[in-house]
Amino acid sequence: MPIKTIIEPFRIKSVEPIRWTTRAQREELLKAAHYNLFLLHADNVLIDLLTDSGTGAMSTNQWAAIMQGDESYAGSRSFDRFKNSIQDITAFRHVIPTHQGRAAERILFGVMCKKGDVVPNNTHFDTTRANVEFTGAEALDLVITEGRQPASTHPFKGNMDVAALESLIERVGRERVPLVMLTVTNNSGGGQPVSMQNVREVSAVCKRHNIPLYFDACRFAENAWFIKLREPGYEDHTPRQIAQEMFTYGDGCTMSAKKDGMANIGGFLCTNDDLLAQQEKDLLILTEGYPTYGGLAGRDLEAIAVGIQEALEEDYLRYRIASTAYLGRAISAAGVPIVQPPGGHAIYIDARGFLPHIPSEQFPGVALGCELYLEGGVRSVEIGTLMFAKSAQMDLVRLAIPRRVYTQSHIDYLVEVILEVWANRQNIRGLRLTYEAPFLRHFTARLEPI
Ligand code: F0G
Repeated sequence: MPIKTIIEPFRIKSVEPIRWTTRAQREELLKAAHYNLFLLHADNVLIDLLTDSGTGAMSTNQWAAIMQGDESYAGSRSFDRFKNSIQDITAFRHVIPTHQGRAAERILFGVMCKKGDVVPNNTHFDTTRANVEFTGAEALDLVITEGRQPASTHPFKGNMDVAALESLIERVGRERVPLVMLTVTNNSGGGQPVSMQNVREVSAVCKRHNIPLYFDACRFAENAWFIKLREPGYEDHTPRQIAQEMFTYGDGCTMSAKKDGMANIGGFLCTNDDLLAQQEKDLLILTEGYPTYGGLAGRDLEAIAVGIQEALEEDYLRYRIASTAYLGRAISAAGVPIVQPPGGHAIYIDARGFLPHIPSEQFPGVALGCELYLEGGVRSVEIGTLMFAKSAQMDLVRLAIPRRVYTQSHIDYLVEVILEVWANRQNIRGLRLTYEAPFLRHFTARLEPI
């Protein structure tokens, strides 16, 4: 009989204590944080699933590489290693380091977009949407219908609706579509993958209209693993081969190395377009730094050079995706509505299904997130009406799993906490806003229970 227990494919060499609080303390802390989990002090969180971004544990090889960091302002060896490692996977001609993903987005859209333009994506992440809109362009989500239905078990719910893309280009005209983006995996749509078939089809439409295709590649390795698991013809490909093939269909990418770069900070922007690269580097120098460090330390470039390769290791990906799926299966088997099938980096609880008595305007996702904190000191994030206001298509609570940080017993603890909240769900109330910022309001919003 094959052994079923999921074990971490690593030994632990360094540990960081986490801290318990009492329920009474958490009630006080949550009130002081205006019922916004972003405003909690991390010391008061036991299991922090706010994000999988920059929260991962680095490997011994990454720490060793950090010691090799070349901190030269221009032309450092660390930049060569960074660039070579990224080009080994993406083969894009220009690699521009940035301090994180959104800096790459700001530069890309700043150079490519203007008022009146439209940028389609499967689903824009919040910073992506905000950076598109900041240029005066419109950010449009064209994910397939199944991608908007939490219960649908379509294997590639991150796919773009190719017909919708075609008719959009027809309707607004090619001149108003400066680029098309594909987010792999589709974070705001439930961490769902995009199939190679869909990448090929979107790429073909883009080529026909001479529109560049860019990947938002934050979780490209997890996407590659899903293709290996689910797409006929890719069973025997390695995740590296799959990622390499995917990037051949695009003209560039933005990347937050805080995800599948396995680093605590960093990102990059890639393009095959020489002219664009020049304009992007000019902007980079203005706001981020010289093009061989882009706002990062040499040691950060080293950590990314090693980490982005480790993210493609099969033992790691097998464990990571299995562990996330285990959490999803355990709670959905007890009736908790989640976005099916479980995503790569996170489980998304369908808060509208969990709390049908709370209308969207009263932020069911925020209400559920607060309750998970009160019950077990768990921090999650709302992806719904607070984050996206009127453009919210669902109210989700994301439990994002940091890479290589929590063990399977932490996951079992989470299952218990979630099921306890599920049992008491009728008592949960909605909230109202008392303060909101003009954009990206979820980071600083203040709320109160109704
Ligand atoms: N694109 C996607 C799909 C993302 O998930 C993120 C970040 C970004 C771009 C921006 O990258 O944070 O390095 O500037 N997502 C994090 C999250 C913050 O929690 O999902 P960044």
